[in-house]
Amino acid sequence: MAQASVNVPRLEGKVALITGGARGIGECIARLFTKHGAKVIIADILDNLGHSVCEDLGDELAFYVHCDVSNESDIEHAVNTAILKYGKLDIMINNAAIADEPKTSILDNEKFEFDQVISVNLTGVFLGTKHAARVMIPAKKGSIITIGSVSSSVGGVASHAYTSSKHAVVGLTKNVAAELGQFGIRVNCLSPYFILTPLTMKFFKIDENGASGVYSNLKGMALSSEDVAEAALYLGSDESKYMSGHNLALDGGFTAINPAFGLFA
Ligand SMILES: NC(=O)c1ccc[n+]([C@@H]2O[C@H](COP(=O)([O-])OP(=O)(O)OC[C@H]3O[C@@H](n4cnc5c(N)ncnc54)[C@H](O)[C@@H]3O)[C@@H](O)[C@H]2O)c1
Repeated sequence: MAQASVNVPRLEGKVALITGGARGIGECIARLFTKHGAKVIIADILDNLGHSVCEDLGDELAFYVHCDVSNESDIEHAVNTAILKYGKLDIMINNAAIADEPKTSILDNEKFEFDQVISVNLTGVFLGTKHAARVMIPAKKGSIITIGSVSSSVGGVASHAYTSSKHAVVGLTKNVAAELGQFGIRVNCLSPYFILTPLTMKFFKIDENGASGVYSNLKGMALSSEDVAEAALYLGSDESKYMSGHNLALDGGFTAINPAFGLFA
């Protein structure tokens, strides 16, 4: 059996497309993937940020493409850019997502706001998955990873629209895994707990100080974007070669337990 070594690049020769890679978790994934030998395409709508991340990573390793994931021709173009620039696509990371304004009553939720979240968080993942599959099927390999959330499996943590979208991507992941297994393509979801990023700062209306007050099951440590990138590295690499249709929770046990009885309080 091959011995894993900490110094061996785990994505050598692979090409990854990361939606929403201009900042936050996606940026972190792009940085770790290039450290491990991958070439990355960052697809985002924040052009200045995306270009500056790619400049920092270097022309050889990273390329930025403007892409609104809810727009099929943008996604199609981003995937085609990966093929044109680097010759193939091994890993697709559906990471781009938005959160709507938190509202305490469903009666205040507007349809257009719900549709907006669904169009990015769910339709965007469908389109990313579809166009990744388009080029992965002929290659008969590939790893498609969608960033879910604890809101992919429990309620009461985020808005109705966000929770619906994150539950739905798990269903999509399982269904596409069922279809694409015949081509050797793996499809998984990666569902982190709370991390302070522009998305959560806006949603929870908190800054760095507020983050320490957020409930966590696992004490003494905090989840970081780097931890999510490490899990994405595993799902993108051949080390997870038999893993498909899975929703990998990275949440310190949050979605597996219910502390409401206070049995271990
Ligand atoms: N931060 C958390 O606590 C947390 C927890 C669980 C899951 N997540 C998930 O992790 C992923 C990344 O979130 P983040 O916290 O880094 O957020 P973020 O807001 O920092 O980053 C999201 C990125 O997606 C991009 N984006 C938004 N709409 C887009 C669109 N239509 N097309 C292309 N790009 C678009 C943004 O420009 C941004 O670069 C999301 O899927 C989010 O739901 C985050």
